[in-house]
Amino acid sequence: MINTRQVIDDFGRHVYGVTPRLKLAVTSKVLDYQAAFGAGSRSRHELTITGERGEHRLELLLCLPNIDQSPVFLGLNFDGNDAVLQQWPIELLMRRGYGVASVHASAIEPDRNGGAADGVRRILGIGPDDEGAPATWGTIGVWAWGLSLIRRQLTDYAHVQRDKIIAVGHSRMGKAALWAAAQDEGFAAVISNEAGCSGDSLHRHRAGEDIAAITTNFPYWFTSGYADYAGRDDELPVDQDQLLAAIAPRPVHVGSASEDDWADPLGQFLCVQSARKLNEGLGPVGFHLRPGDHGLLTEDWLHYLAFADTHLSGP
Ligand code: GCU
Repeated sequence: MINTRQVIDDFGRHVYGVTPRLKLAVTSKVLDYQAAFGAGSRSRHELTITGERGEHRLELLLCLPNIDQSPVFLGLNFDGNDAVLQQWPIELLMRRGYGVASVHASAIEPDRNGGAADGVRRILGIGPDDEGAPATWGTIGVWAWGLSLIRRQLTDYAHVQRDKIIAVGHSRMGKAALWAAAQDEGFAAVISNEAGCSGDSLHRHRAGEDIAAITTNFPYWFTSGYADYAGRDDELPVDQDQLLAAIAPRPVHVGSASEDDWADPLGQFLCVQSARKLNEGLGPVGFHLRPGDHGLLTEDWLHYLAFADTHLSGP
């Protein structure tokens, strides 16, 4: 049986950095609201987060179908909210009765070395040695914290089914979605699309990206001590199957692509299999493998819809 608290503590300490406990005021203002795809509405909201050292603003995109209340897929995006309207099959999701909420990850904290100085962390009043300082709290952890903050905000919107908010993310955003859902029981389920190394594939499988590569290219994603495990992946005190298992009893689904060697599809599959054993059947851990390369495709979303229809009993 997995000790969820212990697993979360260990991932905080060794991988993503410990999430500081922060109570912040968040206000929301509608920027615009319009009909979308003949299937519902699309609105943009400005969220203002007030910290000890000032305010930070984010734009939230919210697409909701024309039904009284809907489950919502909440995910961070790579290229901004306008791009999401082109990249995700929002009309299809809305027609199936689901809402979609998204925020540009870099609007929470820029996806680059030193991004902490220009993101939400700059207003939090966290000193260099405190939990949450750049050396101890990585950007993935900040994104995960941001996802929880947005989830709580979504529960204020009347048309959102507050107990059916699903964290979703592709690749680096999949890592953030898993970490967010593990820490925040308010997420009803989580979908990890090709999150790979430090997300949904096993370190101990030793294929694809490893700790040396990820901490060389993206040191700021993690707590600084994670890089000490470069070349010693097997010695990391945790592995990603434990993170997946810690989300139980809530459902998890992992999506993978046959040519996505960097994310290690076999390592993802083995991670899912092992998580199922670790959680002793407490929560479903789904998996699909589609042909092709790295990406979040409509084909993947069809799996995610089926998963949500089955495990959250749909809209
Ligand atoms: C890089 C990185 C991966 C990450 C991916 C992505 O390839 O090495 O860990 O998942 O970018 O976010 O698309």
